Amino acid sequence: MVISFQNVSRYYNDWPALERINLQLEQGEFLVVSGPSGAGKTTLFRHIWMGDLPSSGTVEVAGHSSDRIGRRDLPLLRRKLGIVFQDFRLLPERTVYDNVALPLQVTGTSPKAVRRRVFSLLAEMELNHRRASYPHELSGGEQQRVAIARAMVAHPVILLADEPTGNLDPEVSRKVIDLLVEINRTGTSVVLATHDPRQVPAGVARFIYLDRGHMVNPNSWDGYDQL
Ligand SMILES: Nc1ncnc2c1ncn2[C@@H]1O[C@H](COP(=O)(O)OP(=O)(O)OP(=O)(O)O)[C@@H](O)[C@H]1O
Ligand SMILES: [Mg+2]
Repeated sequence: MVISFQNVSRYYNDWPALERINLQLEQGEFLVVSGPSGAGKTTLFRHIWMGDLPSSGTVEVAGHSSDRIGRRDLPLLRRKLGIVFQDFRLLPERTVYDNVALPLQVTGTSPKAVRRRVFSLLAEMELNHRRASYPHELSGGEQQRVAIARAMVAHPVILLADEPTGNLDPEVSRKVIDLLVEINRTGTSVVLATHDPRQVPAGVARFIYLDRGHMVNPNSWDGYDQL
C-alpha cells in the first residue's frame, strides 16, 4: 500500500472539504480523482503530500503517517513524490535542463549521474532540442512536459498530478495523459485529478468521484452534466 486514507475528514472552519474518506492505493496503480470544482480534489492531494493534515482520521503515504509526521520527515516524504500542477510552476530564471536537474542537484547527486538522468528524461519527453530554452519560450504543452520530467527525475514512488491539463488544449492534453499512462506502465503509481475522467482510457485506471467532500459511487455520479 503506498497511500491509505482511514476515515479522513478535513474541516475549514465548519466547512467539510473532505468527509470520512477511505481510500487505498497499491504500488503501481493509476487512480483518477474527479468531481466538480470545490469537490475536494486539491485538498485530497494536499493531504497526500502532507501540506495539510486531517481534522480527524489518518493518512499514510509511502511509510509516513499523518499521526506522527514531523517537520524533519516532510522532505523525506516529498522526495518519494513527484508533483505536477495545473500552472506548471517552473523556475523562470532557469533553463529547461536546469529546471529538470534541480531536484537531483539539491540532493547531491554527482554531475555525471545528473546529466545522464536529465538527458534520458528529456529524450523521453521529446524535449532534447529545447533543453537550453527558458520556460517563457515554450508552449504550454512543452512547459507541462518539463514539469513532468522534473517530477520524475528523482524516481518518485508516486506521481501526483493535479489538473495537469487544465491550461492545455484537447490535443496537447491527450499527449500529457498518454505520458502519465506511459509513466504508470513502468511501475510508478499515478494519482491524477481531473474534471474530465473521460480523458483517461478506462482499462488503465481506477476512478473515484468526489462531491462536496464525499466519495460518491461512480454509478450514481451525475457530474458529467457539469463538465
Ligand atoms: N485553505 C482553505 N481554507 C478554507 N477553505 C478551503 C481551503 N482549501 C480549500 N477550501 C475549501 O474546500 C473546498 C474544496 O476545495 P478544493 O480546492 O479541494 O476543491 P477542488 O475539487 O480541487 O476544486 P477545483 O476543481 O476548482 O480545483 C472548497 O469549498 C474550498 O473553498
Ligand atoms: Mg483543485
